[in-house]
Amino acid sequence: MARKFFVGGNFKSNGTTTQIKSIIEGLNQASLNPNVEVIISPPAIYLPLAKEIASNGVQVAAQNVYDKGNGAYTGEISAAQLKDVGVNWVIIGHSERRALLGESDKFVASKTKAALAGGLSVILCIGESLEEREAGTTIDVVTRQLKAVADEVSDWSNIVIAYEPVWAIGTGKVATTEQAQEVHAAIRKWLRETVSDKAAEETRILYGGSVTDKNSKELATQPDVDGFLVGGASLKPAFVDIINSAA
Ligand code: 13P
Repeated sequence: MARKFFVGGNFKSNGTTTQIKSIIEGLNQASLNPNVEVIISPPAIYLPLAKEIASNGVQVAAQNVYDKGNGAYTGEISAAQLKDVGVNWVIIGHSERRALLGESDKFVASKTKAALAGGLSVILCIGESLEEREAGTTIDVVTRQLKAVADEVSDWSNIVIAYEPVWAIGTGKVATTEQAQEVHAAIRKWLRETVSDKAAEETRILYGGSVTDKNSKELATQPDVDGFLVGGASLKPAFVDIINSAA
């Protein structure tokens, strides 16, 4: 089964009502490659707005979900509430949350399990720090992050993996095509050995970290790069060129 190219735009904590409307209207009017799955992820408060106005096949993802149901969890949003407003995707395990908010591998795994059980599809983010890359432990780190999820989840058919080296996020320092391909191939090998042949063949593995319209075409030529998770550049008109860079 061919893996459909996937491009996500993670807006992080950026945008106002006016700006988010304008980004989405731009995507609605753009000529988007129909063979690419496109997802945008605005801050939670703008999810219903995004759902209401996004067309042209553009789907919407939350940037976080809690691992409990509805209840006394001030400030949190449940999978059921995301589904209630028509959101079917969620980003989990972003390095900004792991690093700044101390989210552990175990918590990320628990949230992934809860999201899947609640009927959401998950963009699961993993990636090593600069220190870890320089120590030669990149593959150990990403497989440790994946293993925590594999301990909780056996069906990976609604998971997309985003490999986002922390040193490449928001730095303008993109991984080389060789660096990206090497880690993506190792992730696929891990899926084959730990989950199943099916998971290895069908799971999309995205690259994220300083992706722009200038580097996306070359990255997209790599056999194990099945798309991108884009931060800063997803707020700009050139996001359309990144979407259309599928090989
Ligand atoms: P940048 O594209 O801004 O480097 O961010 C990547 C990212 O963190 C996407 O989740």
